[in-house]
Formats: sequence, structure tokens, C-alpha cells
Amino acid sequence: MTSVLVDGIGELVTNCPDLPGEAGILAGAALVVDGDRVAWAGPSAAAPGADRRIDVGGRCVVPGFVDSHSHLVFAGDRADEFTARMAGARYDGGGIARTVAATRGASDARLRALLAARIAEMRAQGTGTVEIKSGYGLTVGQEARLLRLAAEVTDETTFLGAHVCPDGVARADYLELVTGPMLDACAPFARWIDVFCEPASPHAFDGDQARAVLSAGRAAGLGLRVHGNQLGPGPGARLAVEFGAASVDHCTYLSPADIDALAGGDTVATLLPGVEFATRSPYPDARALLDAGVRIALATDCNPGTCFTSSMPFVIALAVREMWLTPLEALRAATAGGAAALRRDDVGHLGVGAAARLTVLDAPSYQHLAYRPGVPIARLLDVSG
Ligand code: NIG
Ligand code: FE
Repeated sequence: MTSVLVDGIGELVTNCPDLPGEAGILAGAALVVDGDRVAWAGPSAAAPGADRRIDVGGRCVVPGFVDSHSHLVFAGDRADEFTARMAGARYDGGGIARTVAATRGASDARLRALLAARIAEMRAQGTGTVEIKSGYGLTVGQEARLLRLAAEVTDETTFLGAHVCPDGVARADYLELVTGPMLDACAPFARWIDVFCEPASPHAFDGDQARAVLSAGRAAGLGLRVHGNQLGPGPGARLAVEFGAASVDHCTYLSPADIDALAGGDTVATLLPGVEFATRSPYPDARALLDAGVRIALATDCNPGTCFTSSMPFVIALAVREMWLTPLEALRAATAGGAAALRRDDVGHLGVGAAARLTVLDAPSYQHLAYRPGVPIARLLDVSG
């Protein structure tokens, strides 16, 4: 195995308070990667030798971003919906059917190429780990196909057959399909199951329907995630806590009771401020969540309908500007928070033994992630021997 010394790090954010430095941040640092793992991190002056040396010239290094929520396997374009929303149109999930039609009609080769381009975009902006959902197939064969393609690029795959009820299919019949044959066909390619629990949408699922989906997923051995409280108040967040889901995502409309429930459970509240940006919605009250002791994550939700960005730095900047997170809170939510939302302890930090996914910034400090919005300063560092 080849070891690589990454030296000349102006500011190293490890997210590990027990490593040298203040609160997991060390100036004048170095880090050693052995194979695909972090083997050492500390002051540059104390760095051990290695087979190869990379000097990052005083730049800041942070853990690779953990984007714990995306819908990357799709074809087609819905820019017109975005334009209409900027002029005042509301989002209700109706446009999902357009992406389903385009995706069903795309070949494996086409979807694979689109997916590869989106993954490359993410890596070029510093994302080291990504979760990918199905949800634009909505038949047994199509959902299994999307998950098979997603599993080619990530271990974090999520079965979202319960995205919307397809046009022309009776809701009860569709739920039977999702919780039966579709789940059976998809489970081999999925780590997680998710449901769009949104009584405010005529296309999504209510609390009882979401409960049926989560119960079936759990029985099939999948971990649980929930799209909840995006378009209005609803049962999503509380259901997620009741089921011990790893994460409830969106959380745009949370009541004090929802926040109490989240504070009393171990479900991460994943905030997707790119969605509020691109749907002209109010931003979630991130400070209320943090003040209540709720664990939060930040993710892109990259999808053609509500937020077509692959950029975690953009999401961090929004979280700082619009949700009053400090730049450090936002970075932590985009790294360690995302890892918690995926129940992973090997990513989201740069402690010894962590996966060697390092993001380098063309900047002296992590603060520049929000300070220089729209400027491509973050990229995943190639530390292969
Ligand atoms: O997370 N809300 C449900 N699903 C996606 C949007 C899907 C779409 O509109 O294509 C989301 O926002
Ligand atoms: Fe989503």
C-alpha cells in the first residue's frame, strides 16, 4: 500500500476534537493517507515520512462533503418549472411525472452517462460521499433498474418507489406494489427506503401510507429515511422519529412538537436549503433545531424538480446567509452531519482510520466556503498513490 503525505495545509478541519488543534481545526498541518484511509494528522513539523508528498501550498483541507440526499438518476429537463416558480408558481410534486416519463424512455447507457457527469460535477465541488435515490421509475422493473445503476456509483442507495403515485394507478394498488413486489425487486440494490410523506401534495403520501411503506421497508431489512414537512406541516418528522429513521429530510415546516420529538430521538434533521432557494419557500428554522439539541445535516437534494444543484458549497453558503448557521456549523452539517444521517462513522471527519476523502479549498480557511459564494474553490483531492 502506498502512503501519501499531504503537507502545507494552512488550515486542517478534521472534525475530531481529540486530534491536535482547537475544536478539530489545526493551523500549519499535515495528514498522512495510507491506502484508502487516514493514518495520521497533526502539526506539519511532526509529520512522519511517506512514499509520496503532496504540498497544498497553504490551502485549507476539510473532510469530503457528505451529500446525504440526492436524486441523480434521471433524464429530461424541467427548467421551465423553475422559471415559472420564480414568477410565483407553487411546487406541489406534479412535475415528477414528467421526469418519470423521460427517465423510463432513456436507455441504461444514457442514464449511466448522465449519472457519471453528475457525480463528476459533485467531486469537482468537493463531495466525497453521495446518497442516491430511485423514484423516477415507479414500476417494478424501472425502479430496480434505477437502483442497479445507482449502486454502480455508491453504496448509499435508497429505494423511493413511494415518491408519488403514478398517474392512472389506484393509490391502494400502488401501495401494495411498492410494499410487495417492487420492494422485493429493489431491496437487493438498496441500503435504504424512503417515502415522500406530504399530505399537502395530491401526488405524495399521507401519514398512514408512509407508515405502511416504512414498516415494509424495515421488515425487508432496509434502513429508513423520510421526505417530510416540505410543503406544509405534517406527520413526516414525528413518524421518522417513531420509526427510528436515520433522517427526515426537508423539515421546512416543523412545529414545536416536531422539534421536541426530533430532540428526543436519534433521527437527523436534514436541511436542503437549495430547495427553498429554487422553490421560493421559507427556509427552515435551523437555529431552533440546534438550540433544541437536534442533530442537523445539509445536503443538496440534487434533482430536476425542486433543486438542480450538485454544489455543497452553494448549500453551505445558503445555510450561513439564510438560516443563520455559522460557517463552522454549516461545514459540520455538510460533513459530520451528513455522515450521521447515513449512519456512517468512516466519513465526514479526518480522524485516524477515516476514509481518505479530502477536500481542498483554494482558500486559507473554511470560512471561504460561504464567503466566496459561486466561486469554485472546493475540489476533492486525489490522494491515490
Ligand atoms: O426532494 N419532494 C419530493 N421529491 C424531490 C423533488 C422531486 C421532483 O420534483 O422531481 C424533493 O424535493
Ligand atoms: Fe428529495
